[in-house]
Amino acid sequence: MIPGPVGSIGQVPDRAIWVILGPPGSGKGTQAELLTTALGVPHVSTGDLLRAEAEAGTPLGAAVAPLLAAGELVPDDLIERVLERRLTRPDAVRGAMLDGYPRTVAQARSLDSRLAASGCPVRGVLLLQVAEATLVERLLQRAGEQHRADDNRRAIAERMTEYRERTEPVIAYYRGAGVPVLPIDGTGDVDAVHERIIRSIYGE
Ligand code: AP5
Repeated sequence: MIPGPVGSIGQVPDRAIWVILGPPGSGKGTQAELLTTALGVPHVSTGDLLRAEAEAGTPLGAAVAPLLAAGELVPDDLIERVLERRLTRPDAVRGAMLDGYPRTVAQARSLDSRLAASGCPVRGVLLLQVAEATLVERLLQRAGEQHRADDNRRAIAERMTEYRERTEPVIAYYRGAGVPVLPIDGTGDVDAVHERIIRSIYGE
């Protein structure tokens, strides 16, 4: 068990599912990766899983590649399939930091059903907040460095719309369910954001 300082989240239990939410470019992947050590759970990114399928040219990857490139959401049945495969790997036995999932209220409900069976509800939701101009700037900068298929103005606009219309309601869903939602200022350098997250989790 991770030593358990008590704060706004409280004692960190043996098995924990965390969710990191925020618009495209808010730093979910970057921060989730840093949190793996602090929270003792793997970073599980549905976006990374889908991109790996697309790069490997699997049938699932071929089906999702055009959706990824357009910034549109992938159908739930495909997402549930990749997630199921990932969460049954041994490193997820202690839980996971979910990045990119759930992205809709339907997915949040599906996750709740799955977790109810394991007796381990979502421990907390980290909500990264960054102004849209900064998000676009970060994504366009990455476009020049990594050539991600969806880092172009058209796909970025679609991703922002999907976030506003389909993912933002997930925040209210969790608040309504009594799950702690921790808003975090996602601006400034990466380490400063990480420190803010840690302080927010442990209530320091
Ligand atoms: P996904 O991979 O989840 O993409 P996204 O939500 O658009 O988010 P990004 O990965 O672009 O940004 P991020 O918030 O993780 O920030 P990051 O750390 O990378 O999903 C991609 C697609 O997959 C979706 O559009 C959809 O098609 C599909 N999909 C995935 N999950 C799905 C689901 N559940 N249901 C249906 N479809 C699904 O950082 C971004 C950039 O900013 C990086 O270059 C980084 O270095 C930089 N950066 C990070 N932090 C800082 C900082 N503090 N200061 C300056 N730069 C920073």
